[in-house]
Amino acid sequence: MSNSPEVYTVHDVRIFIGDCRQVLPLLPAESVQCCVTSPPYWGLRDYEHPDQLGDEETPEQYVQDLVSVFRQVGRVLRQDGTLWLNVGDAYARNGGVGVCGPNAKVGNTKKLIQKRNCKVPPCWGLKDRDLMGLPWRVAFALQADGWILRSHITWIKKAPMPESVRNRPSRATEEVFLFAKNPKYYYNNQAVRERSGANLKNYWVLGPEPSEGEHPAAFPTELARRCILLGSRPGDAVLDPFSGSGTTGIAAAELRRQAILIELNSDYGRQSLKRIQKGVQQGLWV
Ligand SMILES: C[S@@+](CC[C@H](N)C(=O)[O-])C[C@H]1O[C@@H](n2cnc3c(N)ncnc32)[C@H](O)[C@@H]1O
Repeated sequence: MSNSPEVYTVHDVRIFIGDCRQVLPLLPAESVQCCVTSPPYWGLRDYEHPDQLGDEETPEQYVQDLVSVFRQVGRVLRQDGTLWLNVGDAYARNGGVGVCGPNAKVGNTKKLIQKRNCKVPPCWGLKDRDLMGLPWRVAFALQADGWILRSHITWIKKAPMPESVRNRPSRATEEVFLFAKNPKYYYNNQAVRERSGANLKNYWVLGPEPSEGEHPAAFPTELARRCILLGSRPGDAVLDPFSGSGTTGIAAAELRRQAILIELNSDYGRQSLKRIQKGVQQGLWV
């Protein structure tokens, strides 16, 4: 099959290099217990691939694209499965200089928004400088598509990316949504507790971790670890359709779960392969 994606298997982790919209339909239905993922944020980083999500002309199209991806994820999830979704927000801007200019960067990547010439998108009544509320728009669209929205967790960043703004507070949080396919779903409330022993609260203060690679937007392993502990049992399969540097795979291997990772950019795919091989060589998950 000439269109088959490249696949690597290390330990209990399978890494597919390809577009998740093509790979997800190849996975068996109801074979995964939980999905932990963070798709590209709209208009933010350029992952330098023609099939990347996040570079849609409008944020409306972005929301629709994510709904289609997660419809496939829903097919692959077991009936009692859950989806843990981290999505970031964006501002509508008109302009052509600074953070909107042709040379605009975000960390070590190009900024995607330059491709659209930095125009306020013609939807939702957006105006220059409006915060789009994208995480909640995605959440409501998924809810309308059949998902049950069970929680929103605020990830409070101990060391957020600095912003040179003077007319609003700097951003230091992101959303992680917990969705279920059905009203009865697997959730191990004993697996992660507050220090006091109380039920876990819906704000997680997480610090940066020493970077193991060049992925510009990796989430903390502790974030993936918590979602996996709460949403699966040892031996279960965990999916990340936008796996980047493979953080979900690392956390899954560490917690004795199987993992299925999908990543479009082969450099990042190889980066995750190396991270997982390193863990195996160090005997971390024997
Ligand atoms: C926010 S990053 C994920 C980072 C990851 N959580 C980590 O810790 O490294 C989103 C990833 O989605 C990938 N991506 C973009 N479009 C994709 C697509 N259509 N199919 C699969 N992966 C895609 C990008 O290359 C990028 O690495």
